[in-house]
Formats: sequence, C-alpha cells, structure tokens
Amino acid sequence: MDTIPAVAAPDSLREALVAKIDSLGTFRSQAVRDAFRAVPRHEFLPGVDLATAYAPKQVVTKRADDGTAVSSASSPNIVAIMLEQLQAAEGHKVLEIGAATGINAALLSELVGPSGAVTTIELSRGLAEGARAHLAEAGYPQVKVVCRDGALGAPEGAPYDRIIVTAGAWDIPAAWWQQLAADGRLVVPLRLHGSGLTRSLAFDRTGIARMVSTNAATCGFVPMRGDTEMGEIHVRLADEVTLKIDDEDFPDEASLARALTHPAHQHWTGIPIRHDEEAAHLDLWLATGTSGLSFGQLSVSDAARALGLADPARQWSGASLYQGSSLAYLTVRPVDDDTDELGFTTHSPAPHTFVGQVDSLLRQWSQERPAQPRITAHPATTPHEHLAPGALISRPKTLLTISW
Ligand SMILES: C[S@@+](CC[C@H](N)C(=O)[O-])C[C@H]1O[C@@H](n2cnc3c(N)ncnc32)[C@H](O)[C@@H]1O
Repeated sequence: MDTIPAVAAPDSLREALVAKIDSLGTFRSQAVRDAFRAVPRHEFLPGVDLATAYAPKQVVTKRADDGTAVSSASSPNIVAIMLEQLQAAEGHKVLEIGAATGINAALLSELVGPSGAVTTIELSRGLAEGARAHLAEAGYPQVKVVCRDGALGAPEGAPYDRIIVTAGAWDIPAAWWQQLAADGRLVVPLRLHGSGLTRSLAFDRTGIARMVSTNAATCGFVPMRGDTEMGEIHVRLADEVTLKIDDEDFPDEASLARALTHPAHQHWTGIPIRHDEEAAHLDLWLATGTSGLSFGQLSVSDAARALGLADPARQWSGASLYQGSSLAYLTVRPVDDDTDELGFTTHSPAPHTFVGQVDSLLRQWSQERPAQPRITAHPATTPHEHLAPGALISRPKTLLTISW
C-alpha cells in the first residue's frame, strides 16, 4: 500500500529556514531572528507549495511577457542581511519601497512592534492589493500599503526613522532625502555601475545634504520601474555570451563584439583568496578604479560554458575588464580546502600589454585588500569641490563618491 509522504508543518519548515540563515552567519540580532520565527511566509505566497515557500531561495511571483522577473519574495538570506543593515527598532516609523507579497513589511512590523508604524509602497495595483490582503490575513492589518511610484515616497507619514528599498535603484530620488529623519538610516540596493553591479548600502544621514555608507552587501534585485533610465548596454560576444557594460565608458561596441575571436590565454596570478576573507568587493573595486580599463559583467549560459566559449568565476558575476577588443575575465581555481587562487582569462590582439595591465591591477588589489567601500551620497546640486573624496558616480539626483 502506498504511504502518503509526510509533509512538514509550516512551523518546523520555518525553524529549518531560521537554522539555515543562522548557519550562514547572517543573523546579528535576536530581534531579526525572532521576526523570521514569527512571520508565516506561506500565508504571503498563496498557491506556492510549503517546501518552496520556506526554501532559502527567491520565489518569483510575477513575470513580464518576455519572462523577466517583475516581482518576487526575495531570498530570505538577503532579506535578513538587509534587515540587519537597517537596524529597525521598537517604536520606529519605517517606509518600505517594493511591497511585493508583503513578507518584508510583516517582518518590519514585528521589528517595530505596536508602538512603531510600517508603510510599504508598491507600484503595481494588483500586487499592492495582494500585499494588503496577505498582511491583514496573517495578522498585520496595521501595515499601510500604498500603491504608487516608490520614488515619490510617502510624505503623508514622513519623517521616517528607517527607509528600506527592496527593488534595484539607480538613484536616490529627492523624496527619500526629504522623508528620511535627521538621524535616519536608508538601506537601498543601489546599482553602482551600468553592468548591473549592485550593493545593498546602509546610508546614515550625517547632514541635510550628506549620507554615508560603510556597509555594503552583495545582492541582485529586480530593477525599480518608473525610475530614470539606466545606462546599461549589452554587447553580444557569442551565442549566449553577453558583456554588460556602462554607457558612460563610451565603448567601441563593434570592436568589443569581436573580443572572443582572439585566442584565449589563461593566467594564474599566485594571489591567494581564502574563503573566510572578504574578497566580495573585488568587482566593485575594479569597476570604480582609474586603471584606464573598463569594467563589465560577462553573462554566460551553462550551455555556452559547456561549449568552452567562456568560463568566468561565478563569485563576482562574470567580472571582466576590457579595452578596445581586448577582454579579460576573472577566474579562480582551488588551492586547498580553504583557499582559491585568483586568475584571469584574456582574449586580446595585443596580449602582452593587456595581460600586464590586468595582472598589475589585481596585484594592487591584493596588496590593498580593501574590505568595505565608504560610499558618500550628496544631492546632485552639490558643488564638486564639496564632495567627499573618492571615485565619482553621477546620477540625475545624486552624486556618489566611493573610497576604500
Ligand atoms: C524584489 S520585490 C520586493 C520583495 C519584497 N519586499 C519581499 O517582501 O520579499 C520588488 C518589488 O518592487 C516593486 N517595484 C518596482 N518598481 C517600483 C516602484 N517604482 N515603486 C514601488 N514598487 C516598485 C515590484 O513591483 C516588486 O513587487
């Protein structure tokens, strides 16, 4: 006789998810851990089976006609990372941009308690209605769900002690500057380069016209819609091999498209990367450097990897450098159980010079080993002589400087 497979109850699945996030070392506070223990994720994901609802993965809940993800319940680990960055506390007034299912708004509501208040904004009307219904049914009717472009914020509840953005932003719109309290904190996954390179940044307000983040976490998010256009260019190098670059680098796209026609050479640098050491921001360091080489992210399908077209290291999302039709992408190989060696593959018509440039750049990084960037945000009207030192990233509403 067939036995009916036992289905774990939501409570034990939730405990298993909390244990998984704990094993990654993400929880730094009991408050965030307790919030994860309390919120019944599955009630925000109707129609999704329990195992998927409690898996340590993103759950895409809405796609565009071309299949790209428009909305999701974010990966629980990145949600926990961002809530730890946010440090929302009892009594805080919090604004979230990107309600989606409402899960994160419920977590925020747990963190701020009955004396606090949570407002969450969602662009899509259907999603906003869904979030409102899920929140009410799961026991969080006090969370206010607003349907509008999150770039406008919610002035009716300002100022906010905390603002958290859960879609990939290209800029910091004026409303967020205006609606953040004088001692407030803004956590935002900011696209720092046209390639899509994104970091969740925790900005503390240090003045009316200045915010500083010294805490950056690697992440990927569906882009904010209704936002200013991003300067992203995709150059096709081969079937299912695309280099994503920034239009401000003024690339010669026709030359770049020929990069893989030059023979591949693999170089090993002898530079060790221990698994427990912070090398997560090597790609951001390369993207914001002044080496004269431009940065891109090489996107390669599994099929193209299997064909040997390109096989960049996965840990920096295909981090690459290019100049003319020369291309180098980062690679790693294991040295022992705890250490990898950093390398790179080049395709270049002038391999000698190009290899030397890339090699000396990676050696410079290895000597400096910068752990975390210091990123300062200023309103776009700030005169350049008043900017904090560092490499400049210009956005329509914000000037960002990055130093290490
Ligand atoms: C990754 S999901 C948010 C995840 C969510 N907070 C959670 O609980 O896991 C991003 C959401 O942002 C929404 N969004 C995109 N652009 C927006 C905008 N301009 N204003 C408000 N919401 C936006 C999308 O519709 C989507 O639902």
